[in-house]
Amino acid sequence: MRSQFKTITATVLALALGGDAATAQGDGGVEVLHWWTSGGEAAALNVLKEDLEKQGIGWTDMPVAGGGGEQAMTVLRARVTAGNAPTAVQGLGFDILDWANQGSLADLNAVAAEEGWDSVIPAALQKFARVDGKWVSAPVNVHSTNWVWANKAVLDANGIAVPTTWEEFTAALDKLKAAGVTPIAHGGQAWQEATVFDAVAMSVLGPNGYQAAFIDLDEAVLGGDRMKEAFDRMAVIRANVDDNFSGRDWNLATAMVINGTAGFQMMGDWAKGEFLNAGKVPGQDFLCFRFPGTTEQVIFNADQFMMFDQGGSVSAGQAALASAILSPSFQSAFNVVKGSVPARTDVSDEAFDDCGKKGMKDLAAAASSGNLFGSMAHGHAAPASVKNAIYDVVTAHFNGAYDSTTAVTELVDAVSIAR
Ligand code: GAL
Repeated sequence: MRSQFKTITATVLALALGGDAATAQGDGGVEVLHWWTSGGEAAALNVLKEDLEKQGIGWTDMPVAGGGGEQAMTVLRARVTAGNAPTAVQGLGFDILDWANQGSLADLNAVAAEEGWDSVIPAALQKFARVDGKWVSAPVNVHSTNWVWANKAVLDANGIAVPTTWEEFTAALDKLKAAGVTPIAHGGQAWQEATVFDAVAMSVLGPNGYQAAFIDLDEAVLGGDRMKEAFDRMAVIRANVDDNFSGRDWNLATAMVINGTAGFQMMGDWAKGEFLNAGKVPGQDFLCFRFPGTTEQVIFNADQFMMFDQGGSVSAGQAALASAILSPSFQSAFNVVKGSVPARTDVSDEAFDDCGKKGMKDLAAAASSGNLFGSMAHGHAAPASVKNAIYDVVTAHFNGAYDSTTAVTELVDAVSIAR
C-alpha cells in the first residue's frame, strides 16, 4: 500500500509539473489523461490516437494506471490544483457533473450543434454530458458491468452449460472447484468487488430495488433482508476465488480465464478487449453472458472525455478530439476493439462480434423497457463520496471484516454519512 502511495505521489508530482502539455496545446494538439493501460485498452486507445494523428493533431499521452480510474482522478485533482489541467480527461458519470459544476469544463455546444449530438446520443448519456444546457464532455462508449466471461473449453470439459440462475451458477462453481480449476478469477481491489456487487445486487434486489438502493439511497432497501442476501452471495463468490486474489489487477484476472486456469470472471465488457487482444474468438474460445438473474437489465457506465477549460474558447485540438470521438466510423472502429458499444444510437452493428451485437441489442432493449441503470461501481448511480462509502463496506465484507448482517448496518451508516 505504502509503495503504491509513493508511486501515485511521484506520478502526481511529475504530472503536475510536466511541461509537455504546453507544447501539445500550443501546436493545436491535445494532452489526454486516461487509465487505459491494459493490452486491450491500449489497443482501443490507439484507434483514437491514430485518428487524430491522421488529422495532424499532436497527442501527449498521460496514462495513469488503475482500473476504474481512482488513481487517474487523484492525479487530475493535483493537476487542476496546480493550475495545469490537461486538455482532455477520461471521466465517468457524477465526476463529470462535479467538474462541470465547478466551472472547470469547456463549452462544446458549437461542435455538438454542428454534428447533431442532441439527436444521436442516448438520453441516459446526455444526463452525464450536458450541464445547464451545455455539452461539457464527449461520450466515447457505453460499457456495462453485469457480464460474466467464461472459458468455453473449461466449461465443456466439465459438462457445464451457461448458467441461467444463481443455483445453476453455484452448481457450476462447485463442479469447477471439484475439478481443481479456480471457479472465479477475481482481482481483490475495492472497485472490482464493487463491480461484482453491481450485478449480484441487481440479481437479488431486482431493478426497482437497485434503483432504490444505489440511486435513490433508500435506507430501507440498503438495510433490508434482500441486501443481506446480496452480501451472502458475495460471500459465496469469495469462497470461489483463488488464494492470491488480493490486489490483482482486473486484466490479470481476465488472463486466468483466457489461459484456462479459471472458469469465470464477473467484469464489465472491457474484459472482452483482453480476450480479443489475445486473439480469442467469442463463442469459440470464450463466452459472454449476463450475470444470472439480470438478463433484462443493463447496468451501464459510459467513458467520456471531459474537455478542461484552457481559458477562453474550446481549442482547435479539443474540438477536433470531440468531433473525432463522435464520428460514426470511429464509434464503430473503437468500440469493436474496446469491448463496449457505441455512444450513438445510429451506428450499425455489422462490424461487431456476437458479444458486441448482444451488447447493442441489450442496451436498446433495456433503454426502452426501463431496465437501464447507472453503475454504482463506476460512478453512474451516485456521487463519488457515496460510491466510495459503498466500496468500503463491500470490500471490508468481501475480505471477511464482518458478516452480512453487520454489512447491511454498516452500509446504511456509511451511505448516510457520505451523502
Ligand atoms: C472503467 C472504464 C472502462 C475500463 C475499466 C477498467 O471504469 O469505464 O473503460 O477500461 O474501468 O480500466
